[in-house]
Amino acid sequence: MMQFDVKSLRVSFPDSARKRLFKPVPMIEVLHGVSFQVARGDSIGIVGESGSGKSTLARALLRLSETSGGSICFEGQELIGLSEHELRPLRRRMQIIFQDSQSALNPRLTVGSIVAEPLISNGLVKSSAQARDKAVELLELAGLSESFSKRYAHQLSGGQRQRVGIARALALNPEVIVADEIVSGLDVSVQAQLLQLLDKLRKDRGLTLLLISHDLSVVRATCEKVIVMRGGDIVENGMTNEVFEHPHQKYTQRLLRAIPLPDVDPTWIHRVQLEESAEPA
Ligand SMILES: Nc1ncnc2c1ncn2[C@@H]1O[C@H](COP(=O)(O)OP(=O)(O)OP(=O)(O)O)[C@@H](O)[C@H]1O
Ligand SMILES: [Mg+2]
Repeated sequence: MMQFDVKSLRVSFPDSARKRLFKPVPMIEVLHGVSFQVARGDSIGIVGESGSGKSTLARALLRLSETSGGSICFEGQELIGLSEHELRPLRRRMQIIFQDSQSALNPRLTVGSIVAEPLISNGLVKSSAQARDKAVELLELAGLSESFSKRYAHQLSGGQRQRVGIARALALNPEVIVADEIVSGLDVSVQAQLLQLLDKLRKDRGLTLLLISHDLSVVRATCEKVIVMRGGDIVENGMTNEVFEHPHQKYTQRLLRAIPLPDVDPTWIHRVQLEESAEPA
């Protein structure tokens, strides 16, 4: 059985630009009936130009936004039509990490509390001491030492903030992690460290990783499979090396040509000099 079996998934948003007084807001479709499958433990890159529907697809898949048609089967269970109450036990099995970790992390909470929060709200710990210990353990898994648990998000580097996001996402021991542009804007060496961390966690824990990135070199280095999106459709879907070597679409060829140089070598992630520093990036 596939972990995800998605058929003809559609998403529409209210088109406020075309709103007329006393008329219902017209809808605009941004995901046009996409179908794909995800196997347990897959690492799948989702690429495509800005506005092609990558984040919309990910959010719809995790039922974080409304869908207007189609089917999402997760481990044999149809997600479309489930109430929020029915979704609750499924939610902890799928986690999403966003790019903008600065605003995703509560500025008033220490890093330890941010990571402990899902444990507490899901009743997975019995005392605050246990929550603290578990948070430290999760931070260490994400490559941050105990001392980070007392800091605030603004006292961290961009890469360290993303590690907090990863630690928090791991708290509920999910089966699926969606990472939406989590390395963009970071130094190449920091990107490589974060991607290696995600890949290691995926392998160690048998996680499924959906990695959204506009940077094809990131996907090429990290993901076995790739989905290429354009204008709300999936235009290519297959093994990363096959898609990148024999792109069917002119669009994919164009995206490939636009790979930021000089990181065209698919092994760049393993070659990047990992700087020895006192603190993890
Ligand atoms: N809440 C919303 N309301 C209306 N339109 C939306 C909403 N969210 C996304 N869209 C539209 O849906 C389309 C796809 O957006 P989406 O954010 O999925 O693109 P993306 O591929 O993730 O782009 P980027 O690489 O810039 O993050 C865009 O045209 C966008 O304007
Ligand atoms: Mg996006």
